[in-house]
Amino acid sequence: MKKKITEAALILKKSRFTTAFTGAGISVESGIPPFRGGDGLWSKYDPSVLDISRFLADPAGSWVVINEIFYDFFNSAKPNKAHLVLSRMEKEGMLGRIITQNIDNLHQEAGSHMVYEFHGNSKNLRCLHCRREYLAGQISIDHLPPTCRECGGILKPDFVFFGESIPQMPLAAAYEAATISDVFLIIGTTGEVMPANQIPLMAKEYGATIIEINPEPSLYTNKVTDIFLKGKATEIMGKLEDLLFSPTLDNDQDGVD
Ligand code: APR
Repeated sequence: MKKKITEAALILKKSRFTTAFTGAGISVESGIPPFRGGDGLWSKYDPSVLDISRFLADPAGSWVVINEIFYDFFNSAKPNKAHLVLSRMEKEGMLGRIITQNIDNLHQEAGSHMVYEFHGNSKNLRCLHCRREYLAGQISIDHLPPTCRECGGILKPDFVFFGESIPQMPLAAAYEAATISDVFLIIGTTGEVMPANQIPLMAKEYGATIIEINPEPSLYTNKVTDIFLKGKATEIMGKLEDLLFSPTLDNDQDGVD
């Protein structure tokens, strides 16, 4: 593994433009469960609770589950080492942008600025009637569904439900990243959800080197991944950080076993 991590660090250090593509796995060690896998949220809750048609038909019922899944967990979550290393890489000019499928705001709280949220962000609520936006923390969710102070309309979390379209800005930023990146660093995603899961495939077609971090293989691993770093995000990103900011990395390559 040392050889592969050193190889990955050398590639990242030499890259002109690197994009990190992150999924729920990067936030697992911040206490936010993944969606899929043995203890995933979708093994406890029915994913249809995030269908937009179901939300519109039964906002109160949907809000009960949404509150339990997203607002109970998310409020206490803090960025972990993996989020912080990506933020440091951005500061040091080693990371161009983050395309995240996550809605937990942890990249921003870790200090990353070039973050594009493919599925929106759970920190905001939006009125379905007048489109007014509120911070989730500003609105009492003792009475569900929460309603707009101005027009009484129903408030919906401002993240993308199944059946809704991807916001234009992150979509465009993701497509652009796929065409300009030398390296795509995929962290903690199964690669199962369309259309987000197409972005790394596009990057590969445009010639990007794909480095993947995951304790388990994903749909990318045997398809497009060039270097698979098997392990937890905090563990691998911690090792990458040591190498990336080591003054001897470039000569270490001869000593790699
Ligand atoms: N470090 C890195 N990866 C991890 C860790 C960890 N500590 N723990 C789990 N993983 C990996 C799992 O092996 C899996 O590949 O994270 C991935 C989590 O997969 P999903 O829960 O499916 O998350 P993701 O791929 O981001 O889901 C995509 O699905 O339900 C929708 O909108 C939701 O954005 C989400 C999308």
